[in-house]
Amino acid sequence: MGVPDAPARLDHHTLERYETAWLGIAVVMTALLFVGVLASLISGTYPALKTDAGHAHTGGIVRGRVDPKNLAATPFAKPGLVVDDRGQPALNEQGTLDAYLVAGNFTFQPAVLRVPAGVPVTLHVTATDVAHGFQVTGTNINAEILPGHVASLTVTFRHPGEQHAICNEYCGVGHHNMITRFVVDPPATGAKETQ
Ligand code: CUA
Repeated sequence: MGVPDAPARLDHHTLERYETAWLGIAVVMTALLFVGVLASLISGTYPALKTDAGHAHTGGIVRGRVDPKNLAATPFAKPGLVVDDRGQPALNEQGTLDAYLVAGNFTFQPAVLRVPAGVPVTLHVTATDVAHGFQVTGTNINAEILPGHVASLTVTFRHPGEQHAICNEYCGVGHHNMITRFVVDPPATGAKETQ
């Protein structure tokens, strides 16, 4: 007879200390999660307010239509910045530059787009095959690119340097290679002729 040897039990006070410690850890983790979600929400909603390379703003998005099988009959036949007879960037009636970009076959055309800083550029983007994404990294400039549709986004690149646009919608095996580069020239380059 007699009570069998029970495993060593922690006394009342030790248990309370453990509980308090774990409660504290849970509270800290909850607080970190809350701050993290809040931070990502704020940075995800207003990334254009950043003062570094991501300094650009969007104008309205105007949606047009285009025949994806007959891009040759549209300005998309010559992807890139629209220039005048002298090869200088040409302003449209809205006072912005126009650039045409084509997404398809896991590439963007052109692969490199030279734009002057400080001048609004309206990017017209369409797709030839499937749905793609178009996001200018570090900003909230982001559009879904569908065959037959034209997404037009007005962007001002404020700082000379380089910036990228990526495809952020899974479109197939080459999705991760879809990237285009913006080379932003100092403002003087574009304004030289009008000086
Ligand atoms: Cu194109 Cu992902």
